[in-house]
Amino acid sequence: MSKQIQIFDTTLRDGEQVPGCQLTTKEKVAIARELEALGVDVIEAGFPISSPGDFQSVVEVSKVLKETVVCALTRAKKEDIDCAAEALRYANRGRIHTGIGSSDVHIKNKFFSSREQVLEQGVWAVAYAKEKGHEVEFYAEDAGRADLAFLAEMIEAVIAAGADVVNIPDTTGYCLPDAFGKRIQYLTEHVSNIHNAVISIHCHNDLGMATANTISGLCHGARQAEVTINGIGERAGNTSLEEVAMILDTHSNLNCHTNIKPEKIYAISKLVSGMMRMPVQPNKAIVGSNAFAHSSGIHQDGFLKHAENYEIINPAKVGVPSSSIVLTARSGRAALKHRTALLGYQFDGEELNLLYENFLTIADQKKIIADEDLMMLVGLMPALVRS
Ligand code: KIV
Ligand code: ZN
Repeated sequence: MSKQIQIFDTTLRDGEQVPGCQLTTKEKVAIARELEALGVDVIEAGFPISSPGDFQSVVEVSKVLKETVVCALTRAKKEDIDCAAEALRYANRGRIHTGIGSSDVHIKNKFFSSREQVLEQGVWAVAYAKEKGHEVEFYAEDAGRADLAFLAEMIEAVIAAGADVVNIPDTTGYCLPDAFGKRIQYLTEHVSNIHNAVISIHCHNDLGMATANTISGLCHGARQAEVTINGIGERAGNTSLEEVAMILDTHSNLNCHTNIKPEKIYAISKLVSGMMRMPVQPNKAIVGSNAFAHSSGIHQDGFLKHAENYEIINPAKVGVPSSSIVLTARSGRAALKHRTALLGYQFDGEELNLLYENFLTIADQKKIIADEDLMMLVGLMPALVRS
């Protein structure tokens, strides 16, 4: 059975919480427009009560989005919910994202409260938010470490109070993929009114498992994934949008579909990284500068024979201009021949052997051989055959 997965992007809220990544309202609006063009279903535009700037950003993002739902975060407090509802007043479709801690760690050490009290406050917050006329999403903070029976009780109660979406966050990135998936499955089996709400998942990357946990959650009944561009977010970050989108696209047997237009992924990754002044690590899946770069001789030779030998995604599919063959001391003749051919020179046989010998001498001294270095090497060759 085909499953339609809603993509909820929180780059402008959880992503923007990263130290030094704060955005102006103008920048948030520019990114929100591109997220809508990318095909995300929900954009969490901010936490309106946190600052006048964030309030204004939610207002301005609400004005420009046409189809996409605009979401505003709140705590389970009256003043937060009033403020969020006010910030969403221009939204075509607005959503209030309210919630409270669900694990005993949070209940005892953050709220100094009891399970009964947080459950009551959560239910009250959902019912109050519902009166504002927007969609309501409830987050059970730290659900990854919550007692499962209590979590199920809380989720059942907030759905009964009117929650349209129930968010099960692995706030601390604690869960193992299999266990997280089973948590979602448990809720589908033990919450009697679960069919009245969409299950969302929001995973953090503290142990490097955010994407794996998200996929596991989707395989066990969740229908909304909360993600950010480039995986930015609190501490080690959130699940990355591009990874989830391309896993679902690559593994079509999972039968999970999104509205994401993959060809727009690389451009928005660059936009977010530039505006937030947050470089993308070179080895980042899908959007890192090395994601489609081949540097060892064995890989380069195999890639040049047939790209699928070493690439499971065509870079053009995600908007990356091309794959690259990087020349280093680990490269072989096939790569050298390929790169010199791109510069207009054809080397074979003994000529290629000689060029390769000279190349290795320089490559052992320099980390990467650029086109200028290649031109110099070509210039040293006794006889040249132009292609
Ligand atoms: O990580 C988290 O639990 C959150 C909630 C506010 C959804 O960001
Ligand atoms: Zn979060």
